[in-house]
Amino acid sequence: VQRVLTGITTSGTPHLGNYAGAIRPAIAASQRAGVESFYFLADYHALIKTTDPLRVQRSTLEIAATWLAAGLDTERVWFYRQSDIPEIPELTWLVTCVAGKGLLNRAHAYKAAVDRNLAEGVDADAGVNMGLYMYPVLMAADILLFKAHSVPVGRDQIQHIEMARDIAGSFNHIYGEHFVLPEAAIDASVATLPGLDGRKMSKSYDNTIPLFAPPAELKKLIFSIVTDSKAPGEPKDADTSALFELYRAFASAEETRAMRAAFESGIAWGEAKQALFDKIESSVAPMREKYDALIADPTQIERLLHEGAAKARAIATPFIGELRHAVGLRNLA
Ligand code: TYM
Repeated sequence: VQRVLTGITTSGTPHLGNYAGAIRPAIAASQRAGVESFYFLADYHALIKTTDPLRVQRSTLEIAATWLAAGLDTERVWFYRQSDIPEIPELTWLVTCVAGKGLLNRAHAYKAAVDRNLAEGVDADAGVNMGLYMYPVLMAADILLFKAHSVPVGRDQIQHIEMARDIAGSFNHIYGEHFVLPEAAIDASVATLPGLDGRKMSKSYDNTIPLFAPPAELKKLIFSIVTDSKAPGEPKDADTSALFELYRAFASAEETRAMRAAFESGIAWGEAKQALFDKIESSVAPMREKYDALIADPTQIERLLHEGAAKARAIATPFIGELRHAVGLRNLA
């Protein structure tokens, strides 16, 4: 069997990019034969992005509800909250001790912070905490603990998977073959979704469209997507249009072809926005109903996460025992 694992950081409200770029393809993958899927809520990673406890709690609930509303089958999949698995921080330390500092110096997020500081003429590490620095090591522990072969992620995460692979190789070299070397799986058919301003949809750019915004808000956001100033009747370029890109992510191949033709024959931006709204609203509405019910009474989510943690720990606990033994630590059992 092929083990597939991926996580979402619980620091914000799920947006269209998270859904079309990560959740929807992950659920499709979990339905294939011969695949074991591990999908989790990365709430330890969230602490690096926010220091607001209520936001972490709220986001964890929202992201869990999103997976479930989108049709995740928790009988088939290992679905859990990172912080319910004590073996993850434990493994983080074991792999920290073989992770090169030079490797982590090269991590994009850390380097970006350093470059910003240097440009501003302040100390290179000003405002950088060890959470940001260690981010890739925690992520390596997430992946290695469950011997994942394949890690489906967006392009922004590729470096992290390569680091996990590197760290696994170092550990295996020193202590023997314990870890599977993971690989990033980038689905070329899953585009990076643009946000309202045309840049990648991302919490950090404040350009996101929440997946389950009420219809009126969804409509308002869609009508605020930045376009060029071409008048109705003037041909429009689908390939550089965020609006088209978003439409494509929710429409069938045939509908996408028809929209491309409409762009070429000069569809008015208002009309294109209305078509995008109708398309997204009709895909999202049935899920939104389930989502609202799950959020209104979180006991079902809590129960499923509880069961998911037990199922994940049935794998993690014996494996961490093997690793403790390998490095020379006493085993608790
Ligand atoms: P995060 O929470 O930033 O994003 C979750 C997933 O969504 C993808 N994504 C997008 N895809 C398409 N278009 C977009 N605009 C868009 N925005 C986000 C991301 O690429 C990602 O796949 N570090 C990870 C979480 C994590 C993890 C892991 C992932 C923690 N441990 C172990 C895999 C394996 C993160 O912050 O993703």
